[in-house]
Amino acid sequence: MNDFIFENRTKVYFGAGCVSKYLPDILTQYGNTVLLGYGSGSIKQNGVYDEVVSILTEAGKTVIEFGGIMSNPTLEKMLEGTEIARANDVDLILAVGGGSVMDCCKSISIAARYAGDVWNDFWEEQGTLNFDPVPLGMIVTMPATGSEVNGSAVLTNTERNIKTDRDYPRSNADFALMDPNYTLSMPLRQLRAGTFDILSHIMETYFSYPIEDNVSDDISEALMRGVIRDLRAALADPNDYQARSNIMWEASMAENRIIKMGKSKDFEVHNIEHQISAYTNCNHGEGLAVLHPTYYRHIYKDGLGKFVKFAERVWGLDRADYVSDDALALAGIDALADFIRDVGLPTTLRDLGIKDELIELGINSQVDSFGTVKDGLRVIAESCYTTPGAYREIDKAEIFEILRECY
Ligand code: NZQ
Ligand code: ZN
Repeated sequence: MNDFIFENRTKVYFGAGCVSKYLPDILTQYGNTVLLGYGSGSIKQNGVYDEVVSILTEAGKTVIEFGGIMSNPTLEKMLEGTEIARANDVDLILAVGGGSVMDCCKSISIAARYAGDVWNDFWEEQGTLNFDPVPLGMIVTMPATGSEVNGSAVLTNTERNIKTDRDYPRSNADFALMDPNYTLSMPLRQLRAGTFDILSHIMETYFSYPIEDNVSDDISEALMRGVIRDLRAALADPNDYQARSNIMWEASMAENRIIKMGKSKDFEVHNIEHQISAYTNCNHGEGLAVLHPTYYRHIYKDGLGKFVKFAERVWGLDRADYVSDDALALAGIDALADFIRDVGLPTTLRDLGIKDELIELGINSQVDSFGTVKDGLRVIAESCYTTPGAYREIDKAEIFEILRECY
């Protein structure tokens, strides 16, 4: 194993009924005023809002609502919430939702305690979080990002067309409540996308140095097999509690830093997807599903040994059936692409709704370092950054090729 420091300070309460069982006690540890963050209204339809608000009211808390957090939360929305948190001097921020709500609330917990330019100092730049954010709790309704167990928060700066994140261990939530039954109301589209995001987090970590066998990759292989099995089971029977609860914990296991120990970490696909999203507001997990197989066909020779293990250990392919390691590695990537298709995820950028030449987005006439742009995909490629932890650092021209191939 390579050297590492491991830290995760979030206390997790997992299981059916965990919110009513544990939240009342947890609340006694915090002051009177609670900022309740939520999204576009799903929690009002599935009963979660009523349950949480009644627990807060019973506990005598003053509840300040901050709803309407959109998918792919914007810097602007986060700053709106920050003003509310400051004006009410809140003692606890309670996020109830998926990754977007959790990320927005996590960012507010930092911004409310910071007088400077929070975007510039903590997202644009890698800052040092040398103060305590406002205490933060999560009630997860959609398993995907793992935001409930890490310090990462993704924001979109719509003025600058940048979507990016930073992971500060100190901004981990104090507690996370995870009731798999809360996820049953998720539309199947979100189930597919969110679960693919989990698989992507594991693959982005697995396909990075070292290539030699190590504990982190061993755990990742088991998690990948589990995610594939559990998504199939949950789609076959959306009420399958075993599958739903497995997916919920797989989401956390993928992002609670355990599988990242000693790993260089790639996350190039995430960087590219974030920039597609910055321009098109596409769904995160769906964007990842489109990009992964193509990206891996570009880089697999640089991490061949690992791609062979992926084919054998995750997809159960037999070395004896292939003429070379190369052929086996490619068959593993094909198996991933087949899985994406079989579970009903999009496979092209067109499927994501990105139309010819991105004319509808009005970005096809921007100018970048490639000269006058006729193709909006170039604008997106130019806006991406590349990751040092990958098997091979690709350049912007290659990102453009990948986008073209995915189109
Ligand atoms: O708006 P609400 O009402 O919350 O509805 C949401 C939203 O429409 C809905 N939903 C969630 N739980 C539901 C439900 N609908 C019915 N029943 C439920 N139980 O699902 C839709 C998508 O929710 P969202 O929170 O946007 O999805 P997700 O969890 O995938 O989060 C996506 C955001 O997280 C970022 C993504 O880039 C994107 O901005 N990420 C955050 C990461 C992190 N913090 O570590 C890492 C990831 O790689 C990712 O980048
Ligand atoms: Zn992700």
